[in-house]
Amino acid sequence: MHNTAFHHLGLNYVYLCLKVKAANLRTAVEGIRSLGLVGVNVTIPHKVTVMKYLSEIDPTAKDIGAVNTVVNRDGVLKGYNTDGWGSLNALEEAGVAFRGKKVVLLGAGGAARALSFCIAPLADVLVILNRTEEKAVDLASSLRRRFGKKIRGGPLHREVLAKEVDGADLLINSTSVGMYPRGEECLVDGSLLNSRMTVFDIVYNPQETRLLREAKSVGATTVGGLDMLVHQGALSFQIWTGETPPIDIMFRAVEKVLEV
Ligand SMILES: NC(=O)c1ccc[n+]([C@@H]2O[C@H](COP(=O)([O-])OP(=O)(O)OC[C@H]3O[C@@H](n4cnc5c(N)ncnc54)[C@H](OP(=O)(O)O)[C@@H]3O)[C@@H](O)[C@H]2O)c1
Repeated sequence: MHNTAFHHLGLNYVYLCLKVKAANLRTAVEGIRSLGLVGVNVTIPHKVTVMKYLSEIDPTAKDIGAVNTVVNRDGVLKGYNTDGWGSLNALEEAGVAFRGKKVVLLGAGGAARALSFCIAPLADVLVILNRTEEKAVDLASSLRRRFGKKIRGGPLHREVLAKEVDGADLLINSTSVGMYPRGEECLVDGSLLNSRMTVFDIVYNPQETRLLREAKSVGATTVGGLDMLVHQGALSFQIWTGETPPIDIMFRAVEKVLEV
């Protein structure tokens, strides 16, 4: 999506994938400076460790505790996390507003952390449910300390889920459940969904997960993981180039790759 966007705007950049061993992370980051790279994306398993090698960390990335985008400004390397803001942009594009709303977030992994730190200041109530309950409870208490809001964590049990989804305006799956090759798995029974809610599944492969299919069938608004993927990439693009990213072009480029 980045190379397509560079080409579309006539920008003289190229995006490459480089595999970095954990033992080489520090020297790889030094290489960004010495090679004069404009910036990089950082992915699993380096998103947390990379922070200690950077010059500056954006406050949201600091809160989240992970960086996925680094920009090199004259040798000063600044780290950002675009996952949460990218999700908000995808939701905003779908017409989702947060004021006075109840959000139920399934999962407490890396993506859930990124989303929750961006949603917590906006939503009225945020409920985080996770298979490993302790992680949801810990994340909820960090968010409560930081934002002083109605935020609670709990187990991803059938009864708790049914109780919390009742009255929710936005339901987000930020677990890996439903991801290829187990695309038919779904944490939420379709009978819990209704046409007044928005359902956002961050899984992007398949593009339409079973959760999204069931949500669509009851008339709920749906947002897919591909929207988040493109919007977080678009924010990185903007950070590196200072240009407005061609979102539609980027979306079609990713869609084409995933279709293969
Ligand atoms: N669309 C995008 O741009 C985007 C961006 C980032 C990630 N993602 C996708 O989001 C998913 C999660 O990524 P991540 O980085 O947050 O991974 P992660 O840090 O490994 O977290 C995985 C989460 O899924 C939960 N989980 C896994 N298997 C489960 C199961 N069988 N039942 C219930 N919960 C289960 C885990 O619960 P426990 O804590 O109990 O293990 C944890 O909350 C992946 O599918 C990834 O591809 C999409």
